[in-house]
Amino acid sequence: MRERDDILTRSGRFALVDAGGPGEHAAFARDVRAGLLAHPKRLPCWYFYDSEGSRLFEAICELPEYYLTRAEQAILEERSGELASLFRGPITLVELGSGSARKTRVLIEALLRRHGTARYMPVDICRPALLDSARALLTDYPALEIRAVAGEYSDGLRHVAEEADRPRLILWLGSSIGNLDRPEAAEFLRRVREAVSAHDRLLLGIDLRKDRAVLEAAYDDAQGITARFNRNLLVRINRELGGRFDPGRFLHRAVYNAEVGRIEMYLVSEGSQRVRIEALDLAIAFAPGEAIHTENSYKYSPAEIDALASEAGLRLEQRWVDAAGRFSVNLCAPASR
Ligand code: AVJ
Repeated sequence: MRERDDILTRSGRFALVDAGGPGEHAAFARDVRAGLLAHPKRLPCWYFYDSEGSRLFEAICELPEYYLTRAEQAILEERSGELASLFRGPITLVELGSGSARKTRVLIEALLRRHGTARYMPVDICRPALLDSARALLTDYPALEIRAVAGEYSDGLRHVAEEADRPRLILWLGSSIGNLDRPEAAEFLRRVREAVSAHDRLLLGIDLRKDRAVLEAAYDDAQGITARFNRNLLVRINRELGGRFDPGRFLHRAVYNAEVGRIEMYLVSEGSQRVRIEALDLAIAFAPGEAIHTENSYKYSPAEIDALASEAGLRLEQRWVDAAGRFSVNLCAPASR
């Protein structure tokens, strides 16, 4: 890539804030050490999203079993005009965990149609995915301006404050909220609420509680893509921390815990094994069938979403559900204090 040919630098419509950077590798090392020494063993799910993990997640979104993305997309397609018309003039569209921003396009298009211009602030921990999506969006939408934040949600929230010159619509889509425990989710939404003002809105895509069979298939697909996504965490440890995992000796498992309403993902050791991680100067022993807990994905009932919103100081203005009743998109406003 020749720098001056890159639309990111050429367009004058792009700015990047890099909140990650040097601390990232140390944080990964620290979290892997702590997680693999814990009982039971666990690894934080946000480390799924290196370049390969982000690519695999995009593939998951296309799977026949993974209904979430299609259901949400259908709702957004139907409601994007209505959403754009909530605002009288140009806004900043903030997206927490933007990934490829594929399903955001329908909203960006509606905003551009309505207001002529828009500013997009994608927040993602995967820098390559952020830059790729920005290139594609700047090419396709000449009236779009992008201020990208490479970092965690909390980094994004800090920059939301800088957009106070226009109304803001904050997107937290794809049921990303499902990775947080319920109290954490309420706490994070409260922080979002504190970062915005009365005329701003929040759009939350939240997966609904449903039959075990539908949920477990969505997280354990026939093609084994989700299994590869899960195992990619071990591949990443091998590459970045000198790990000696044989990913083939860990089975992908996804179970629905109906009582707490969440999918739990695990990597289960086939047989007993000892795995060295050179950069941590550590050897981890696995008993046969011992699991590493890699992800929770919480599901909500409509009543739980209502409670979550009010706990966070938000007022639910609209809830849209797809035709099959599987997925919800919730429009929230700050509750008056
Ligand atoms: C990106 C957290 C919404 O929980 O459905 C998909 C991640 N993990 N398949 C989800 C995921 C396995 C996804 N989120």
